[in-house]
Amino acid sequence: MGDEVVVDHATTKRYALVTGANRGIGFEICRQLASKGIMVILASRNEKRGIEARERLIKELGSEFGNYVIFHQLDVADPASLDALVNFIKTKFGSLDILVNNAGINGVEVEGDVSVYTEYVEAELKTMLEAGHGGVQGEAFHPQGNGRFVETLESAKECIETNYYGAKRITQALIPLLQLSRSPRIVNVSSSLGSLVLHPNEWAKGVFSSEDNSLTEEKVEEVLHEFLKDFKEAKLQENHWPHHFAAYKVSKAAMNAYTRIIAKKYPSFCINSVCPGFTRTEISYGLGQFSVAESTEALVKLALLPDGGPSGCFFTRDEAFCLY
Ligand SMILES: NC(=O)c1ccc[n+]([C@@H]2O[C@H](COP(=O)([O-])OP(=O)(O)OC[C@H]3O[C@@H](n4cnc5c(N)ncnc54)[C@H](OP(=O)(O)O)[C@@H]3O)[C@@H](O)[C@H]2O)c1
Repeated sequence: MGDEVVVDHATTKRYALVTGANRGIGFEICRQLASKGIMVILASRNEKRGIEARERLIKELGSEFGNYVIFHQLDVADPASLDALVNFIKTKFGSLDILVNNAGINGVEVEGDVSVYTEYVEAELKTMLEAGHGGVQGEAFHPQGNGRFVETLESAKECIETNYYGAKRITQALIPLLQLSRSPRIVNVSSSLGSLVLHPNEWAKGVFSSEDNSLTEEKVEEVLHEFLKDFKEAKLQENHWPHHFAAYKVSKAAMNAYTRIIAKKYPSFCINSVCPGFTRTEISYGLGQFSVAESTEALVKLALLPDGGPSGCFFTRDEAFCLY
Protein backbone atom coordinates (compact mmCIF):
# COMPACT_ATOMS: atom_id res chain seq x y z
CA MET A 1 0.00 0.00 0.00
CA GLY A 2 2.71 2.46 -1.09
CA ASP A 3 0.66 5.67 -1.35
CA GLU A 4 -1.69 5.14 1.58
CA VAL A 5 -2.76 7.98 3.83
CA VAL A 6 -1.37 7.75 7.39
CA VAL A 7 -4.30 7.66 9.78
CA ASP A 8 -4.26 9.01 13.32
CA HIS A 9 -6.86 6.72 14.93
CA ALA A 10 -7.09 8.79 18.10
CA THR A 11 -8.58 11.76 16.29
CA THR A 12 -10.31 10.31 13.27
CA LYS A 13 -13.89 9.31 12.70
CA ARG A 14 -15.02 5.75 12.11
CA TYR A 15 -15.80 4.71 8.53
CA ALA A 16 -18.30 2.15 7.34
CA LEU A 17 -19.14 0.70 3.94
CA VAL A 18 -22.60 -0.75 3.36
CA THR A 19 -23.23 -2.60 0.08
CA GLY A 20 -26.63 -2.68 -1.63
CA ALA A 21 -27.62 0.36 0.40
CA ASN A 22 -29.95 2.25 -1.94
CA ARG A 23 -33.00 0.61 -0.37
CA GLY A 24 -34.28 -1.90 2.16
CA ILE A 25 -32.11 -3.11 5.01
CA GLY A 26 -28.88 -1.60 3.61
CA PHE A 27 -30.43 1.87 3.49
CA GLU A 28 -31.62 1.52 7.08
CA ILE A 29 -28.17 0.33 8.24
CA CYS A 30 -26.71 3.53 6.74
CA ARG A 31 -29.35 5.59 8.53
CA GLN A 32 -28.68 3.99 11.92
CA LEU A 33 -24.86 4.12 11.59
CA ALA A 34 -24.80 7.74 10.36
CA SER A 35 -27.12 8.81 13.17
CA LYS A 36 -24.49 7.46 15.58
CA GLY A 37 -21.82 9.71 14.04
CA ILE A 38 -20.19 7.13 11.80
CA MET A 39 -19.12 8.20 8.30
CA VAL A 40 -21.01 5.90 5.99
CA ILE A 41 -20.35 5.03 2.37
CA LEU A 42 -23.74 4.19 0.93
CA ALA A 43 -22.89 1.89 -1.99
CA SER A 44 -25.31 1.16 -4.80
CA ARG A 45 -24.83 -0.56 -8.13
CA ASN A 46 -26.97 2.04 -9.87
CA GLU A 47 -25.63 5.59 -9.65
CA LYS A 48 -29.00 7.33 -9.95
CA ARG A 49 -30.66 5.13 -7.32
CA GLY A 50 -27.66 5.60 -5.01
CA ILE A 51 -27.58 9.40 -5.30
CA GLU A 52 -31.33 9.59 -4.72
CA ALA A 53 -31.03 7.29 -1.71
CA ARG A 54 -28.33 9.51 -0.20
CA GLU A 55 -30.49 12.61 -0.72
CA ARG A 56 -33.46 10.84 0.88
CA LEU A 57 -31.33 9.85 3.85
CA ILE A 58 -29.94 13.36 4.42
CA LYS A 59 -33.49 14.71 4.23
CA GLU A 60 -34.59 12.21 6.89
CA LEU A 61 -31.59 12.73 9.18
CA GLY A 62 -31.23 16.50 8.75
CA SER A 63 -28.74 18.56 6.73
CA GLU A 64 -26.19 18.45 9.59
CA PHE A 65 -25.65 14.79 8.58
CA GLY A 66 -24.74 15.79 5.01
CA ASN A 67 -21.06 15.05 5.63
CA TYR A 68 -21.75 11.69 7.25
CA VAL A 69 -23.18 9.93 4.20
CA ILE A 70 -21.21 9.52 1.00
CA PHE A 71 -22.45 7.75 -2.09
CA HIS A 72 -20.18 5.47 -4.13
CA GLN A 73 -21.09 3.17 -6.98
CA LEU A 74 -20.50 -0.57 -6.42
CA ASP A 75 -21.84 -3.54 -8.29
CA VAL A 76 -20.71 -6.44 -6.12
CA ALA A 77 -20.69 -8.73 -9.17
CA ASP A 78 -18.33 -6.39 -11.08
CA PRO A 79 -14.65 -6.52 -9.98
CA ALA A 80 -13.83 -3.28 -11.89
CA SER A 81 -16.34 -1.29 -9.84
CA LEU A 82 -14.81 -2.78 -6.68
CA ASP A 83 -11.32 -1.58 -7.66
CA ALA A 84 -12.64 1.97 -8.05
CA LEU A 85 -14.30 1.86 -4.63
CA VAL A 86 -11.23 0.45 -2.87
CA ASN A 87 -9.08 3.23 -4.38
CA PHE A 88 -11.63 5.80 -3.28
CA ILE A 89 -11.61 4.56 0.35
CA LYS A 90 -7.82 4.29 0.35
CA THR A 91 -7.21 7.84 -0.86
CA LYS A 92 -10.11 9.54 0.90
CA PHE A 93 -10.07 7.82 4.33
CA GLY A 94 -6.94 5.65 4.45
CA SER A 95 -8.67 2.90 6.43
CA LEU A 96 -12.03 1.25 7.03
CA ASP A 97 -13.65 0.26 10.34
CA ILE A 98 -16.88 -1.48 9.35
CA LEU A 99 -17.82 -3.52 6.30
CA VAL A 100 -21.44 -4.62 5.91
CA ASN A 101 -21.89 -7.14 3.10
CA ASN A 102 -25.59 -6.56 2.64
CA ALA A 103 -26.24 -6.65 -1.15
CA GLY A 104 -28.17 -9.76 -2.04
CA ILE A 105 -30.72 -11.35 -4.34
CA ASN A 106 -32.93 -14.39 -3.84
CA GLY A 107 -32.49 -16.05 -7.25
CA VAL A 108 -36.23 -16.68 -7.47
CA GLU A 109 -39.20 -15.27 -9.39
CA VAL A 110 -42.72 -15.79 -8.09
CA GLU A 111 -45.41 -16.54 -10.67
CA GLY A 112 -48.99 -15.96 -9.55
CA ASP A 113 -49.96 -15.23 -5.96
CA VAL A 114 -46.94 -13.77 -4.08
CA SER A 115 -48.36 -14.86 -0.71
CA VAL A 116 -46.67 -18.17 -1.53
CA TYR A 117 -43.50 -16.40 -0.38
CA THR A 118 -44.79 -15.93 3.19
CA GLU A 119 -46.25 -19.42 3.25
CA TYR A 120 -42.94 -20.90 2.21
CA VAL A 121 -40.73 -18.88 4.58
CA GLU A 122 -43.04 -19.66 7.50
CA ALA A 123 -43.01 -23.38 6.63
CA GLU A 124 -39.20 -23.36 6.58
CA LEU A 125 -38.97 -21.46 9.87
CA LYS A 126 -41.28 -24.09 11.40
CA THR A 127 -39.03 -26.85 10.06
CA MET A 128 -36.03 -25.17 11.67
CA LEU A 129 -37.84 -24.78 14.98
CA GLU A 130 -38.93 -28.43 14.96
CA ALA A 131 -35.41 -29.54 14.10
CA GLY A 132 -34.15 -27.49 17.04
CA HIS A 133 -36.52 -29.46 19.27
CA GLY A 134 -35.32 -32.80 17.91
CA GLY A 135 -38.02 -33.04 15.21
CA VAL A 136 -37.39 -34.14 11.65
CA GLN A 137 -37.21 -32.15 8.43
CA GLY A 138 -40.69 -30.96 7.37
CA GLU A 139 -42.97 -32.37 4.71
CA ALA A 140 -42.66 -31.29 1.07
CA PHE A 141 -44.15 -27.82 0.56
CA HIS A 142 -47.64 -27.61 -1.00
CA PRO A 143 -48.81 -23.98 -1.36
CA GLN A 144 -52.44 -23.03 -0.65
CA GLY A 145 -52.69 -20.40 -3.43
CA ASN A 146 -51.73 -20.45 -7.10
CA GLY A 147 -48.25 -18.95 -6.59
CA ARG A 148 -45.14 -20.85 -7.61
CA PHE A 149 -41.40 -20.28 -7.61
CA VAL A 150 -39.39 -20.15 -10.82
CA GLU A 151 -35.65 -20.72 -10.53
CA THR A 152 -33.43 -20.84 -13.62
CA LEU A 153 -29.78 -21.72 -14.08
CA GLU A 154 -29.08 -18.08 -14.92
CA SER A 155 -30.77 -16.82 -11.76
CA ALA A 156 -28.95 -19.47 -9.69
CA LYS A 157 -25.56 -18.39 -11.08
CA GLU A 158 -26.34 -14.72 -10.47
CA CYS A 159 -27.46 -15.48 -6.93
CA ILE A 160 -24.25 -17.33 -6.04
CA GLU A 161 -22.11 -14.72 -7.77
CA THR A 162 -23.78 -11.87 -5.87
CA ASN A 163 -24.36 -13.38 -2.44
CA TYR A 164 -21.18 -15.43 -2.02
CA TYR A 165 -18.47 -14.39 -4.51
CA GLY A 166 -19.47 -10.72 -4.38
CA ALA A 167 -19.19 -10.58 -0.59
CA LYS A 168 -15.97 -12.58 -0.65
CA ARG A 169 -14.28 -10.37 -3.25
CA ILE A 170 -15.17 -7.21 -1.33
CA THR A 171 -13.94 -8.69 1.93
CA GLN A 172 -10.62 -9.76 0.41
CA ALA A 173 -10.10 -6.37 -1.24
CA LEU A 174 -10.87 -4.43 1.94
CA ILE A 175 -9.06 -6.51 4.55
CA PRO A 176 -5.83 -4.47 4.19
CA LEU A 177 -7.81 -1.28 4.95
CA LEU A 178 -9.75 -2.95 7.79
CA GLN A 179 -6.44 -4.05 9.31
CA LEU A 180 -5.59 -0.36 9.78
CA SER A 181 -8.65 0.08 12.01
CA ARG A 182 -8.48 -0.17 15.80
CA SER A 183 -11.70 -2.23 15.85
CA PRO A 184 -12.41 -3.88 12.51
CA ARG A 185 -15.89 -5.33 12.10
CA ILE A 186 -17.44 -7.30 9.26
CA VAL A 187 -21.16 -8.06 9.18
CA ASN A 188 -22.30 -10.54 6.56
CA VAL A 189 -26.04 -10.20 6.03
CA SER A 190 -27.09 -13.81 5.63
CA SER A 191 -30.33 -15.72 6.10
CA SER A 192 -31.81 -18.47 8.24
CA LEU A 193 -32.60 -20.14 4.92
CA GLY A 194 -28.87 -20.92 4.87
CA SER A 195 -29.39 -23.09 7.95
CA LEU A 196 -27.99 -26.57 7.41
CA VAL A 197 -31.20 -28.08 8.75
CA LEU A 198 -32.71 -27.07 5.42
CA HIS A 199 -29.94 -28.75 3.38
CA PRO A 200 -30.76 -32.35 2.48
CA ASN A 201 -27.46 -32.90 0.61
CA GLU A 202 -25.35 -34.64 3.27
CA TRP A 203 -22.03 -34.03 1.48
CA ALA A 204 -22.62 -30.26 1.23
CA LYS A 205 -23.85 -30.18 4.82
CA GLY A 206 -20.69 -32.06 5.89
CA VAL A 207 -18.43 -29.56 4.14
CA PHE A 208 -20.24 -26.50 5.51
CA SER A 209 -20.27 -27.91 9.04
CA SER A 210 -16.73 -29.28 9.10
CA GLU A 211 -14.39 -28.41 11.93
CA ASP A 212 -12.59 -25.09 11.59
CA ASN A 213 -9.26 -26.68 10.63
CA SER A 214 -10.66 -28.66 7.71
CA LEU A 215 -13.02 -25.95 6.43
CA THR A 216 -11.46 -24.11 3.49
CA GLU A 217 -12.60 -21.69 0.80
CA GLU A 218 -11.69 -24.29 -1.83
CA LYS A 219 -14.03 -26.86 -0.28
CA VAL A 220 -16.85 -24.34 0.06
CA GLU A 221 -16.42 -23.38 -3.58
CA GLU A 222 -16.35 -27.03 -4.64
CA VAL A 223 -19.87 -27.30 -3.18
CA LEU A 224 -20.98 -24.24 -5.18
CA HIS A 225 -19.45 -25.71 -8.32
CA GLU A 226 -21.17 -29.10 -7.83
CA PHE A 227 -24.47 -27.40 -7.09
CA LEU A 228 -24.38 -25.40 -10.34
CA LYS A 229 -23.26 -28.48 -12.28
CA ASP A 230 -26.22 -30.45 -10.92
CA PHE A 231 -28.52 -27.53 -11.69
CA LYS A 232 -27.29 -27.50 -15.31
CA GLU A 233 -27.70 -31.26 -15.64
CA ALA A 234 -31.18 -31.18 -14.03
CA LYS A 235 -29.94 -33.33 -11.14
CA LEU A 236 -30.98 -31.13 -8.22
CA GLN A 237 -33.59 -33.55 -6.94
CA GLU A 238 -31.52 -36.66 -7.65
CA ASN A 239 -28.59 -35.24 -5.67
CA HIS A 240 -30.71 -33.93 -2.80
CA TRP A 241 -30.26 -30.18 -3.14
CA PRO A 242 -32.94 -27.98 -1.50
CA HIS A 243 -36.31 -27.97 -3.34
CA HIS A 244 -36.98 -24.22 -3.37
CA PHE A 245 -34.69 -21.20 -3.03
CA ALA A 246 -31.94 -23.69 -3.79
CA ALA A 247 -29.30 -21.18 -4.94
CA TYR A 248 -30.20 -18.72 -2.19
CA LYS A 249 -29.92 -21.38 0.51
CA VAL A 250 -26.62 -22.70 -0.84
CA SER A 251 -25.18 -19.17 -1.27
CA LYS A 252 -26.07 -18.13 2.28
CA ALA A 253 -24.79 -21.41 3.79
CA ALA A 254 -21.54 -20.74 1.89
CA MET A 255 -21.48 -17.19 3.25
CA ASN A 256 -21.86 -18.53 6.80
CA ALA A 257 -19.01 -20.99 6.25
CA TYR A 258 -16.83 -18.21 4.78
CA THR A 259 -17.60 -16.09 7.86
CA ARG A 260 -16.10 -18.82 10.05
CA ILE A 261 -13.05 -19.16 7.80
CA ILE A 262 -12.11 -15.49 7.84
CA ALA A 263 -13.01 -15.03 11.51
CA LYS A 264 -10.40 -17.67 12.31
CA LYS A 265 -7.85 -16.10 9.96
CA TYR A 266 -8.24 -12.58 11.44
CA PRO A 267 -8.62 -13.06 15.20
CA SER A 268 -8.38 -9.33 15.96
CA PHE A 269 -11.53 -8.67 13.88
CA CYS A 270 -15.15 -9.32 14.88
CA ILE A 271 -16.66 -11.06 11.84
CA ASN A 272 -20.17 -12.46 12.04
CA SER A 273 -23.07 -13.37 9.82
CA VAL A 274 -26.63 -12.53 10.70
CA CYS A 275 -30.18 -13.13 9.54
CA PRO A 276 -32.26 -9.95 9.89
CA GLY A 277 -35.51 -11.93 10.11
CA PHE A 278 -38.39 -12.03 7.63
CA THR A 279 -38.51 -8.33 6.72
CA ARG A 280 -40.83 -6.26 4.53
CA THR A 281 -38.53 -5.25 1.64
CA GLU A 282 -38.44 -5.76 -2.14
CA ILE A 283 -36.64 -9.10 -1.91
CA SER A 284 -39.64 -10.46 0.05
CA TYR A 285 -42.30 -8.73 -2.10
CA GLY A 286 -43.01 -6.35 0.80
CA LEU A 287 -44.14 -9.29 2.94
CA GLY A 288 -42.68 -10.26 6.29
CA GLN A 289 -42.88 -10.10 10.04
CA PHE A 290 -40.55 -7.15 10.68
CA SER A 291 -40.09 -3.57 9.51
CA VAL A 292 -36.61 -2.62 8.28
CA ALA A 293 -36.07 -0.55 11.42
CA GLU A 294 -36.83 -3.56 13.64
CA SER A 295 -34.58 -5.91 11.64
CA THR A 296 -31.65 -3.59 11.35
CA GLU A 297 -31.05 -2.89 15.04
CA ALA A 298 -29.40 -6.26 15.59
CA LEU A 299 -27.21 -5.82 12.51
CA VAL A 300 -26.00 -2.42 13.69
CA LYS A 301 -25.17 -3.88 17.10
CA LEU A 302 -22.90 -6.40 15.37
CA ALA A 303 -21.26 -3.59 13.39
CA LEU A 304 -20.51 -1.80 16.66
CA LEU A 305 -19.49 -4.77 18.82
CA PRO A 306 -17.05 -3.86 21.58
CA ASP A 307 -13.52 -5.29 21.41
CA GLY A 308 -13.42 -8.91 22.47
CA GLY A 309 -16.97 -9.44 21.16
CA PRO A 310 -18.02 -12.65 19.41
CA SER A 311 -16.56 -13.59 16.04
CA GLY A 312 -17.25 -16.42 13.59
CA CYS A 313 -20.86 -16.72 14.77
CA PHE A 314 -24.23 -16.75 13.07
CA PHE A 315 -26.92 -14.60 14.66
CA THR A 316 -30.62 -14.48 14.03
CA ARG A 317 -31.43 -10.97 15.14
CA ASP A 318 -30.24 -10.82 18.78
CA GLU A 319 -29.60 -14.50 19.33
CA ALA A 320 -26.28 -16.21 18.60
CA PHE A 321 -26.61 -19.65 17.08
CA CYS A 322 -24.28 -22.28 15.91
CA LEU A 323 -25.90 -23.64 12.78
CA TYR A 324 -22.89 -25.61 11.71
N1 LIG B 1 -35.96 -9.09 3.64
C1 LIG B 1 -35.83 -10.27 4.22
O1 LIG B 1 -36.82 -10.92 4.65
C2 LIG B 1 -34.46 -10.88 4.39
C3 LIG B 1 -34.36 -12.04 5.17
C4 LIG B 1 -33.11 -12.63 5.31
C5 LIG B 1 -32.01 -12.06 4.72
N2 LIG B 1 -32.13 -10.93 3.97
C6 LIG B 1 -30.92 -10.38 3.36
O2 LIG B 1 -30.85 -8.98 3.60
C7 LIG B 1 -30.05 -8.36 2.58
C8 LIG B 1 -30.73 -7.08 2.12
O3 LIG B 1 -31.96 -7.41 1.50
P1 LIG B 1 -33.26 -6.52 1.60
O4 LIG B 1 -34.25 -7.29 2.39
O5 LIG B 1 -32.92 -5.14 2.03
O6 LIG B 1 -33.73 -6.58 0.07
P2 LIG B 1 -33.86 -5.46 -1.07
O7 LIG B 1 -34.71 -4.35 -0.63
O8 LIG B 1 -34.24 -6.24 -2.28
O9 LIG B 1 -32.37 -4.89 -1.22
C9 LIG B 1 -31.35 -5.59 -1.86
C10 LIG B 1 -30.24 -4.61 -2.17
O10 LIG B 1 -29.15 -5.36 -2.77
C11 LIG B 1 -28.77 -4.65 -3.95
N3 LIG B 1 -28.09 -5.52 -4.92
C12 LIG B 1 -28.53 -6.64 -5.53
N4 LIG B 1 -27.59 -7.10 -6.39
C13 LIG B 1 -26.54 -6.24 -6.31
C14 LIG B 1 -25.28 -6.15 -6.94
N5 LIG B 1 -24.89 -7.03 -7.87
N6 LIG B 1 -24.43 -5.15 -6.59
C15 LIG B 1 -24.81 -4.23 -5.66
N7 LIG B 1 -26.01 -4.23 -5.06
C16 LIG B 1 -26.86 -5.23 -5.37
C17 LIG B 1 -30.07 -4.07 -4.50
O11 LIG B 1 -29.79 -3.05 -5.45
P3 LIG B 1 -30.82 -2.65 -6.64
O12 LIG B 1 -31.81 -1.69 -6.04
O13 LIG B 1 -29.92 -2.04 -7.65
O14 LIG B 1 -31.47 -3.93 -7.11
C18 LIG B 1 -30.66 -3.55 -3.20
O15 LIG B 1 -30.07 -2.32 -2.85
C19 LIG B 1 -29.86 -9.42 1.48
O16 LIG B 1 -28.57 -9.94 1.56
C20 LIG B 1 -30.90 -10.48 1.84
O17 LIG B 1 -30.52 -11.77 1.41
C21 LIG B 1 -33.34 -10.31 3.79
